Amino acid sequence: MSLPRDDGHVHLADYVPPAWRIRHADLAFDLDPDATEVHARLSLDPDPDQPGQPLVLDGEELTLLSIAVDGRPLAADRYTYDGATLRIDGLAGACELETRVRIHPAGNTRLEGLYPSGRLLLTQCEAEGFRRITFFTDRPDVMPRWRITLRAARERFPVLLANGNPVARRELDDGRHESTWENPHPTPCYLFALAAGDLDRVTHSVRTAEGREVELNVWAEPGDVARCEYALGAIERSLRWDERRFGRGYDLDVFNVVAAQDFTMGAMENKGLNIFNARYILADEATATDADFLAIESVVAHEYLHNWSGNRVTLRDWFQLSLKEGLTVFRDSEFSADLHSRAIKRIEAVRVLRGRQFAEDSGALAHPVRPDRYREISNFYTLTIYEKGAEVIRLLHTLLGEDVFRAGMDRYFADNDGRAATIEDFLAAHAAASGRDLAQFALWYSQAGTPELSIAEDFDAATGDYTLTVEQHVPPTPGQPLKQPMLVPLRFALYDVAGAAITAAPETDAAINPAGFHGVATNGAIVELVAARHVLRWRGLPGKPLATFNQGFAAPVKIAFAQSPADLARSVRVERDEVYRWDGLQRLAMRAILQHDALAADALEAALDDLLADPAADPAFVAECLALPDFDTLADAMAPVEPDALLDARDALLDRLSRALSAPLLARYDAMADAAAQGLEGPAMAARALRNACLAWLTRHDPAARLAQRQFDAARTMTERGAALRCLLHFGAPGAAAALADFRAQFAHDPLVTDKWIGWVVTRPQASASDDVAALLASEWWKPANPNRVRAVLGNFQRGNPRAFHRADGAGFRLVAARLAALDATNPQVAARLLGGFEGWRRLHPPLRAVARDTLAGLEGQLRSPDCRDLLARLLVD
Ligand code: PHE
Ligand code: ZN
Repeated sequence: MSLPRDDGHVHLADYVPPAWRIRHADLAFDLDPDATEVHARLSLDPDPDQPGQPLVLDGEELTLLSIAVDGRPLAADRYTYDGATLRIDGLAGACELETRVRIHPAGNTRLEGLYPSGRLLLTQCEAEGFRRITFFTDRPDVMPRWRITLRAARERFPVLLANGNPVARRELDDGRHESTWENPHPTPCYLFALAAGDLDRVTHSVRTAEGREVELNVWAEPGDVARCEYALGAIERSLRWDERRFGRGYDLDVFNVVAAQDFTMGAMENKGLNIFNARYILADEATATDADFLAIESVVAHEYLHNWSGNRVTLRDWFQLSLKEGLTVFRDSEFSADLHSRAIKRIEAVRVLRGRQFAEDSGALAHPVRPDRYREISNFYTLTIYEKGAEVIRLLHTLLGEDVFRAGMDRYFADNDGRAATIEDFLAAHAAASGRDLAQFALWYSQAGTPELSIAEDFDAATGDYTLTVEQHVPPTPGQPLKQPMLVPLRFALYDVAGAAITAAPETDAAINPAGFHGVATNGAIVELVAARHVLRWRGLPGKPLATFNQGFAAPVKIAFAQSPADLARSVRVERDEVYRWDGLQRLAMRAILQHDALAADALEAALDDLLADPAADPAFVAECLALPDFDTLADAMAPVEPDALLDARDALLDRLSRALSAPLLARYDAMADAAAQGLEGPAMAARALRNACLAWLTRHDPAARLAQRQFDAARTMTERGAALRCLLHFGAPGAAAALADFRAQFAHDPLVTDKWIGWVVTRPQASASDDVAALLASEWWKPANPNRVRAVLGNFQRGNPRAFHRADGAGFRLVAARLAALDATNPQVAARLLGGFEGWRRLHPPLRAVARDTLAGLEGQLRSPDCRDLLARLLVD
């Protein structure tokens, strides 16, 4: 960690260890929304390798009330505080620093530091929010042990929670009470948390594999606690899974989770006290969809799993962010895959990766999984750090196999427990466990951009020789014009005319890692590509084989392979890998949409017809196949991007397919009614997913939307009711307004369900939806201080309504842009996310690109936060 250079960036290369360490932190809070006092006693040690350095602590918006060293008040000429750093010169050696500061939670709209959410007081410290609470070395490689005392008025704040284990409680005079917590594990301050207020809980005790009794609690505001049971169950499942799959136990006596309505991100893994956006906790079948339940389970798992990947082993500096985030996304996705359908989980991850992360990788904000400089770290909580970071871990898993990977993980945890680690430490553990040199693999961390493989085949009918030539290209990204070839484990398979796998290994060029050819696995062989060009050759085949690649989407790359629609369709029938089969259908759809390829559309129709008729096909898989590639995925394959033309072509394909398949769609819809009726088990969720997919297609040709109306009226779950209402709204059904009014009234008191109908309204796929957004922005429903509501109105519009957002007259762009200055003044991170939604503007076709440029240029000088100024500069740089 280090100070920014003159270019305004913090650089990875400038890292220096802290000159002072904090061995122990003893904090006492007198909580009050208007004026909270924080009394901190820090035990400080100078780094023996850097003697004589001044003590420099971070502190923002703090009113310093008193300061003392080793019990003696510090004279005013011994320190300086400039509003950002507190500096004390001349400290001789180990000492205790005592400060008292006052802060103002009620005025904190940034939701960073100590802030109010409804009647609660909460903290959010990652990445650099702790400096808004007290003076501290706000960097992750400073890891004290902690004692935290909370005092507050008992009536208003009956529950007082902090990190670690509760150790004492007592009543104070004048209606106040006090609660003391101890966190014995070395923990950086970004994992600090407290929560205070009138909270209720659901609770459950478990005994860990190591024999520790642990109390699991989920806390929410009193009326909401009935909807916390599912999240509580998800904690226990996560705990058990980490014991089984990674051998990692839980290490405190309590695990507390708190649900908050006002939260900028999804959730936060504070040690022993996770704080969640309420949308990832509160659920019952009447108010949450199946997708919500699955998201809750996976976010609960994600935060729980951070206890090892992030907390026990933490980060040396913020450049290593993916060391905890990529790894933890990988771990939570394996958790979901082990508990549910692995194929469906993978398909959904690939959809996000290909739609959103690939777009990030090819847009103005592209950056490596480990950036080497930043102006504002908050802008790096990205799909690249999280999702691509997880893909890189998955690649390593593919290269090493489960057993060696697990050995590498064991070693990583053992060697780095209680430490602030780096990506090098992670790779070193895996290199040691596997005996492999991972130097080339490490390029996945330093080079931005999605690798592209172009594959050409050649068959010589006379000799039976078949060759595949694989060329790798990593496109230029901002600041990285030239790239080296990456190590790509490419799965492939060859099939003969009868559809049987050809198991003969190819001859390969010498450049291919000799250890790297893995023979034939269930989903085909893996070849490790290491160079810009490779040739694989088979000799004397009886006929031209059918080649398939990247089963399981094992490598996060783009593949260009010239293949006829007929061969592509045949490969979908021959391959057993569901991810490949889904992907093959997606590629047929892309060709039909982007190249107006009628043969591809025919092949897709036939394949979907077969799938709908196949009683053995998992309904959830069929539903995934009916979801055609979304706008982002299509746009990523088109240059320049013409949103209207692209969306028209997509609509035309949907119209054609849904008309042609209306009979099997309806048959399937009806046949699944019973299976869809009951509970949260996998088959019931799968049945509802397929029914809702069928419903959306059928409603295209049902102007009265009778089926959707019937489903809406009869619905017992939010999954059914919400999908029906969405159809009514999106297809402008006669009953839409009445249904919406009914739904709105029924859930008016519930902000999370309100966010849902707002989401369906603003994603109506017509240009005029921007008028509905404008109306919402002028209504009582617009609550700009609540991040979920901002996302519901503007985030859904921007990301989920490509038609209206990209209106040729610029009205869509302006609708978002016009709100940014005010949002930035309230909550810079929320504003920055929306600004980031313009990342693809340069790839738009010229007239629209000019409109986008004007809109962005018009924001210059209006956005004050470092977050938005950093993004705007990156968006506009030439
Ligand atoms: N660390 C959190 C997670 O991924 C995300 C987060 C980042 C939350 C910054 C708040 C602030 O689990
Ligand atoms: Zn995380």
